[in-house]
Amino acid sequence: MIPTLTWTPDGVRFIDQTKLPLEESYVLATTYEQVAEAIVNMVVRGAPAIGVSAAYAIALGALRTTAVTPHLFAPEFERICARLAATRPTAVNLFWAIDRMKRLFAALLDEGATLVQVQERILAEAHAMYEEDIAACRKMGAFGAALLPDEGAGAPADGSSSVGTIGVLTHCNAGALATCGYGTALGVIRSAVEQGKRIHVFADETRPFLQGARLTAWELMADHIPTTVICDNMAASLMRAGRIQAVVVGADRIAANGDVANKIGTYNVAILAHEHGIPFYVAAPWSTVDLATATGDLIPIEERAAVEVTHHGGRQLTPNGVGIRNPAFDVTPARYVTAIVTERGVLRAPYGESLKETGACG
Ligand code: MRU
Repeated sequence: MIPTLTWTPDGVRFIDQTKLPLEESYVLATTYEQVAEAIVNMVVRGAPAIGVSAAYAIALGALRTTAVTPHLFAPEFERICARLAATRPTAVNLFWAIDRMKRLFAALLDEGATLVQVQERILAEAHAMYEEDIAACRKMGAFGAALLPDEGAGAPADGSSSVGTIGVLTHCNAGALATCGYGTALGVIRSAVEQGKRIHVFADETRPFLQGARLTAWELMADHIPTTVICDNMAASLMRAGRIQAVVVGADRIAANGDVANKIGTYNVAILAHEHGIPFYVAAPWSTVDLATATGDLIPIEERAAVEVTHHGGRQLTPNGVGIRNPAFDVTPARYVTAIVTERGVLRAPYGESLKETGACG
């Protein structure tokens, strides 16, 4: 399995996603601050992976404290949580993980737990989140795979036609690298391949950070799943040519009405899919659902540094002084979403109702 993040006796070991695919190297974060930096710098990225990384960061903070009782550790615990909450604003999994740790810590204080017990329980909770994430990916993978057709007209890598191949377009990287393993959107694809479906993946390169070209292509090639990288502006013509039978993407936050925040450019793909009558599926764990946020308009969208747009590989692309925007995410209105696939099942419109009902059952 791709080692996105691994707990070690010395700290959290991340595969460095800024270096892939040309270099497979690892970063060891031995303090919570180093984990926070890894999240900010995109060494680790993807909503579920960010959430579990934050959980391990809190565990590191608890293990490294010089406080001698849980009550003396409490102000430091709050500072650690605040630091992690300030890393990236859009993926709600980050806040879900921090809130879960806050509830646990409050319960441990109430129980009168010792500092050693607090350290053990917080680390155990982080391990549980890690395992739950992989299990959720596998479950949603199976649910989502069943939605994909048995046959299609997707093209193989050489561009020639291949009767029976299902062309699946994905955007960004919602794979093992964005989770603790297996992936959300790519989990659906992996599961479909395991079921014997002949899938050909079209991976949008995903400007400006190129998660599709660098990461999705790398991890699908490692699994020998046929993949073709396309520039973001090529999706429409492939759809028109009949090469794409389904779109499957991940999510960073799903609002209570079913609006979906995901990597910038996802909204374009959703509109194109709608225009061409192609199903547009969103695969995400329940930790990505934010029932406290009514609509997508209320989701905070991260604006990243201009240099990601102005430069590539250290080389300047744009004239000095030109205006630059770099919103890292966009919101796809619920009306473009054919189904939301979670580990709790496949949800359909009206999402206001199906999300609320599924949340109440969980
Ligand atoms: O900026 P990133 O790379 O963290 O954005 C990642 C995405 O938008 C993913 O599609 C999303 O987190 C789903 S990951 C399973």
